[in-house]
Amino acid sequence: MDRFRKVGTNGLGFHTTAEEATKSLDLQNKTIVVTGANSGLGLETVRVLSLRGATVIGMARTIDKAKSIKSVMNKQFTPLECDLSEPSSITKSAENLIRSGIQIDSIICNAGIMALPKLQKKHGIELQFLTNHIGHFMLVNLLRPILTSRARITVVSSSAHQVFSYHDGIQFDNFSGNRHYSPQKAYGHSKLANILFANELARRFQASGQTANAVHPGVIRTNLLRHYNPVIKYGSIVLEKLLFKNVQQGAATQLYVSTHPDLKEVSGKYFSNCNLKETSKHGKDQAMAEKLWDCSEKIVNKISQGNDWEE
Ligand SMILES: NC(=O)c1ccc[n+]([C@@H]2O[C@H](COP(=O)([O-])OP(=O)(O)OC[C@H]3O[C@@H](n4cnc5c(N)ncnc54)[C@H](OP(=O)(O)O)[C@@H]3O)[C@@H](O)[C@H]2O)c1
Repeated sequence: MDRFRKVGTNGLGFHTTAEEATKSLDLQNKTIVVTGANSGLGLETVRVLSLRGATVIGMARTIDKAKSIKSVMNKQFTPLECDLSEPSSITKSAENLIRSGIQIDSIICNAGIMALPKLQKKHGIELQFLTNHIGHFMLVNLLRPILTSRARITVVSSSAHQVFSYHDGIQFDNFSGNRHYSPQKAYGHSKLANILFANELARRFQASGQTANAVHPGVIRTNLLRHYNPVIKYGSIVLEKLLFKNVQQGAATQLYVSTHPDLKEVSGKYFSNCNLKETSKHGKDQAMAEKLWDCSEKIVNKISQGNDWEE
């Protein structure tokens, strides 16, 4: 039996597309922020949110990239520049949104980079950790005052949090990557941070009606794989059948978790194939999640003032 054809009790599974996961939903009164909205899963997420009537704020690294999204949008679309590796850009975009007077129903923390071949740092922090985790941590926290009472935060993580992780989890003494660097492990590290962030946010949201969850979208051939070897990047028939989803299927889980009424009270969970999934042991570690939150605050404070992080 093809194990990927299994579906959950909700009738959704590996092959479910973003349109199917949101079938019959009316999102006309929802305002949803999507990061990394100009490419891959983010672009499909924006398209389907738009199709369901949502007002979408599409964030991209530059304003030109954010504006390029317009071709697939309805009128209810705001392009916004937000470079998640630049504290000043994050602050500016959050201030823009706060000033505009909107209330946000959902933030889909989708942007990401993967497996940079050589160590790259900005503000003293390894770039995958900075972009994938710290940038989203900062953005969500700045936008908390304008979240609706039932807002949902969805953090796009990856099974890489398990497959590529460091054996002892978050490297609290090596946010710079200086001590040791592995392209894949640094990615897995940032994706573990994504899950721990969602978990700790969910804990802090308790009793508020707001929720936070993390997802693994599947393995999808997008620009994310730009640093990978040609077999993975361009595929083979075997890999295609066994491993890969298309972009429509890849965006399904984040859309389902961010919008479906069945999940309005579900928080602090991890999803894959539009169904609950266990995380790694570290992904469930509450002490690690709390410590990461405190360290992330320290990092944000330091780099927001124009200083580099020093271990
Ligand atoms: N594709 C997969 O197989 C897979 C598997 C597991 C998890 N994921 C996760 O899914 C998410 C979406 O990835 P994808 O596959 O759709 O990749 P993608 O097509 O490369 O899209 C990534 C998006 O993130 C943006 N981004 C990168 N750095 C940024 C920065 N500093 N500031 C703001 N935006 C930035 C990119 O902008 P530019 O276009 O300017 O680069 C792009 O819009 C990521 O979080 C990824 O880790 C993907």
